[in-house]
Amino acid sequence: MNHFELRDGELHCEDVPLAAIAEAVGTPVYVYSTATFERHYTVLREALVAEGVRDPLIAFAVKANSNLAVLRTLAKLGAGADTVSEGEIRRALAAGVPPERIVFSGVGKTRAEIAFALETGVSEINVESEPEMLAIAQVAQGLGKRATIAFRVNPDVAAGGHAKIATGKSENKFGVSFAEAERLYAQASNNAWLNPVGVACHIGSQITDLAPMAEAFEKMAGLVGRLKAEGLSVERLDLGGGLGVPYFNQPEPPSPADYAKVVAKATRGLDVTLAFEPGRVIAANAGVLLAQVVHVHERPEGRRFLVLDAAMNDLLRPAMYDAYHDIRAVCPREGEAKPYDVVGPVCETGDTFTRDRALPEFESGDLVAFMSAGAYGASMASEYNSRPLVPEVMVKGADYAVVRPRPTYDEMLARETPAPWL
Ligand code: LLP
Repeated sequence: MNHFELRDGELHCEDVPLAAIAEAVGTPVYVYSTATFERHYTVLREALVAEGVRDPLIAFAVKANSNLAVLRTLAKLGAGADTVSEGEIRRALAAGVPPERIVFSGVGKTRAEIAFALETGVSEINVESEPEMLAIAQVAQGLGKRATIAFRVNPDVAAGGHAKIATGKSENKFGVSFAEAERLYAQASNNAWLNPVGVACHIGSQITDLAPMAEAFEKMAGLVGRLKAEGLSVERLDLGGGLGVPYFNQPEPPSPADYAKVVAKATRGLDVTLAFEPGRVIAANAGVLLAQVVHVHERPEGRRFLVLDAAMNDLLRPAMYDAYHDIRAVCPREGEAKPYDVVGPVCETGDTFTRDRALPEFESGDLVAFMSAGAYGASMASEYNSRPLVPEVMVKGADYAVVRPRPTYDEMLARETPAPWL
């Protein structure tokens, strides 16, 4: 459930008409709903607790939406943060996430980032390979700080979904194998600078079938059992993120309650603290991208292009993953739907949000909303074609705040420095 609804013929975010935001802030602009973020976090947490999961760490995947207002909204509810760069750790800290709720993942952490994480005192560094483990030990020794680590295991499970976001097969770059995990865990336990506390996995994103998750979780539980049987201490199991969301014409994803049942079944009796790294399931339906129709271009031979002021640099998912986003009129007109190709102004054919989509009548100046754009929308935006970075607005009830303003052209140009010889 989300808080974007038609009221009196106009799309609202909570109690604010989207047209009012477009008027005040301009378009394109991302608009987020506080109540939806809060609801999604709470529903997931309550589902896990209802299944007997004690005090889960729900570490929001910062990459899904890195805006400080979003992170702060979730931090106030007790969320942690799953981070993959020093920048993300800094964002989580700036938003008030305590270091002991920050997990640091990623296959290519630099030594500088490892040092930063150790000095910050993050809850754990998820180790993705043997060379990385050795680097962490060295950096820890240099700082005189023991590193708390978990091993990210690649459970070799195919999770379906788009190939570019599947992470759980052995041919993908993520994590160590089960055999490596057992060997490295024992090795780390004997290293004075490493404190292995658990294991982690994350098999992919936009997963709409619980079977691969169940398979991965059972395999992880088996690993925990084997490590403990070898006399190693295992306190934590991080099950990653990946739960899919309804992108409207997609297969209906499992509910948080069904997901929690799978988690509980796989981990019963393990005596470990569970952590999760959800991104999309919390953020996607808590945000929309609001855009304006520049014009409707009808070719004599029939194709009808809805040309928007938003482009692939603002919302990359359709160009990158052929992703489907529901497109709605903010003030829908009466009349029959017509097929449109919805495009942006960037000079690439890939700057096409959808083709032949049946949509209501549009005219120049009308507003449209891309639904389910709260995850991997603004966080993947760029200034390609020298289009100023898309702004973000947070709504709470009848209030709203611009939480990332649109840079002016002067600000955009001022970030660059002239070469002395030019
Ligand atoms: N944990 C790790 C280690 C991850 O790599 C990811 C996502 C997550 C958690 C969060 O997964 P989620 O719950 O959001 O599915 N840009 C793509 C999605 C990339 C996902 C990358 N990793 C998209 O727009 O669909």
